[in-house]
Amino acid sequence: MSSELTDLCRYPIVQAPMAGGASGPELAGAVAEAGGLGFLAAGYKTADGMYNEVKQLRRLTGGPFGVNLFMPQPVLADPSAVEVYRHQLAGEAAWYETPLGDPDGSGNDDGYEAKVAVLLDDPVPVVSFTFGCPTRDTLDAFAKAGTHTIVTVTSAEEAQSAQWAGADALCVQGVEAGGHQATHRDDPQADHTGTGLLSLVAQVRETVQIPIVAAGGLMRGAQIAAVLAAGADAAQLGTAFLACPESGANPLHKQALTNPLFVRTELTRAFSGRPARGLVNRFVREHGPYAPAAYPQVHYLTTRLRQAAAKAGDAQGMALWAGQGHRMARELPAGELVELLAGELEAARTALSQRSPR
Ligand SMILES: Cc1cc2nc3c(=O)[nH]c(=O)nc-3n(C[C@H](O)[C@H](O)[C@H](O)COP(=O)(O)O)c2cc1C
Repeated sequence: MSSELTDLCRYPIVQAPMAGGASGPELAGAVAEAGGLGFLAAGYKTADGMYNEVKQLRRLTGGPFGVNLFMPQPVLADPSAVEVYRHQLAGEAAWYETPLGDPDGSGNDDGYEAKVAVLLDDPVPVVSFTFGCPTRDTLDAFAKAGTHTIVTVTSAEEAQSAQWAGADALCVQGVEAGGHQATHRDDPQADHTGTGLLSLVAQVRETVQIPIVAAGGLMRGAQIAAVLAAGADAAQLGTAFLACPESGANPLHKQALTNPLFVRTELTRAFSGRPARGLVNRFVREHGPYAPAAYPQVHYLTTRLRQAAAKAGDAQGMALWAGQGHRMARELPAGELVELLAGELEAARTALSQRSPR
């Protein structure tokens, strides 16, 4: 991390922002208290909802934390594809006895401007962005407010433009990552197989000079040591923290991470219209191949279905976001997990430094 960011926390360990309820004040507070960087997720929240969580978190810890914002999305070119998908999901609506949601939901911008205004008015230590890069003016305004900015990127090109725009640091997200790929432009024609984290970190390290936080599939301290060796300054972990008791993830979601019934993850547009990695369940298998590139419209369309599936205790209809390392999840209090990861990292570094050159 940049010297200022490194100074914020004891360990180079960042708890990923996880929208949808997993990373609230309780999780972020426990991570911050243990010496990592905790994160609140402002995605799908109103500016007021976000600010309430910031205030709650400040009551729990004086430690460092960040807030993550979704960048506004371009207007959908072809809404008819969403209508076709609505028909595809009619059987689900009947099965879960719930109407489908309004695809226009709360619009394309997720309240971005209002959230930026709140965070500039009452600054927090770190703000990160996903699904795009803010303007130079916005990044400058945060710098003036004393807030460190991190822009999430999935390619060397995105990394370069974020550096040019004035980001303080990058979150480099590999294809292994759980949840949405943070790609700045969702190109439906593009191949969404993505780039593996180690390779991407090495590429980005050779492209930009600013600090890198590496994310995607990291579950153990030895993996953190590997990304640091590849050029990252810190590691961001989502799935590893999902299973913690402080995580607000649905208990069925937590259990599914290590349930042998779920053998693999996949990038799917089935639930939201943007590629996101989750455990492959019935819903992903049946609808993934037909889901259009229409985010956030598909997210709003499926919101009630996902809620109804959760209420019915049916993990086969829920969005079970998870990274490729999900089976290695450990159900530990977040503070203990941070300490354990930090110990494993130290051990891996010591082992590497003691290995004699051949
Ligand atoms: C349940 C879940 C929700 C997520 N929500 C967000 C989010 O709101 N904002 C964001 O930038 N990244 C989000 N991510 C992605 C993480 O920031 C991070 O890239 C990812 O968790 C790293 O991969 P891992 O899960 O294998 O550790 C989410 C990931 C998960 C698993």
